[in-house]
Amino acid sequence: MPSGVGEYKLMTAKDKYAVFGNPVKHSKSPFIHSAFASQCSQNLQYTAVKVKLGCFVEVAQQFFKRGGKGLNITLPFKLDAYAFADRLSDRAKLAGAVNTLVMDRQGAILGDNTDGIGLVRDMAVNLGWMIGGSRVLVLGAGGAVRGVLEPLLRERPASLLVVNRTESKAVQLADEFAAVGSLKGGGFDCLSNRQFDLVINGTSASLWGELPPLPQTLLSEKGHCYDMAYGTEPTIFMRWAAEHTAWAISDGLGMLVEQAAESFYLWRQLRPETGAIITQLRENL
Ligand code: ATR
Repeated sequence: MPSGVGEYKLMTAKDKYAVFGNPVKHSKSPFIHSAFASQCSQNLQYTAVKVKLGCFVEVAQQFFKRGGKGLNITLPFKLDAYAFADRLSDRAKLAGAVNTLVMDRQGAILGDNTDGIGLVRDMAVNLGWMIGGSRVLVLGAGGAVRGVLEPLLRERPASLLVVNRTESKAVQLADEFAAVGSLKGGGFDCLSNRQFDLVINGTSASLWGELPPLPQTLLSEKGHCYDMAYGTEPTIFMRWAAEHTAWAISDGLGMLVEQAAESFYLWRQLRPETGAIITQLRENL
């Protein structure tokens, strides 16, 4: 029979979650998950932890040993988290990276990847963009793109082309995902005389203020442009889209909140409402 004090502790102890990264100071995840928690009346604590390079396994083991319930993983530890997990979801296996860890009832650590579903949900639900039946172009072939190809293909676009500065990486990605759906890979030179309904920038070029070489005629009449990056100002890719009269343009802030919502769902089996939180974040960028 537990004592009164024990019962009190049980009632007030917060479930612990965190984001591990380096750097992690500017992470918006603590704000987002605290907002989700208060919206869903969940008694939890979510902190940002800067993990020293080379120390991921040790710090993650300690976190779960001390009763931590789940983690988000950001750069540069997504591959460490992939290796750390006891089990991987199918989407994490395909993404080749893990952004969410959760301890199951048996004490095993499941690794998942919610980035791709976050992108698709932001585009399809929040923005109301059509992916199914559209001619989709994805720019880049790094980790960020690998993480989103499977959910994009599941939407059954009319076609999906991945182009990359280093062509061989795009071709290899297309080979790897061929079992999920039909897609092709190539270099930027294969864009001439082609038009797309949806162009997704998954290169890190935006972060350096650089623009991939895009032909003037790339966008179809109702061409939509999405940059997976975000910032206080529209990215250079978004500015290019505006200059080329894109039908609709978005940055990746909604993707950030949606991937968090999917992690929250994995941990708490509750789906928070994201619209107001995206608006709040945008106001405070
Ligand atoms: P991430 O994990 O953010 O995807 P990454 O794996 O380093 O980071 O991949 C960065 C991607 O942006 C790559 O596709 C890279 O092209 P390369 O494979 O040729 O390096 C692309 N990229 C970076 N700077 C670019 C630029 N200025 N123009 C075009 N593509 C660029």
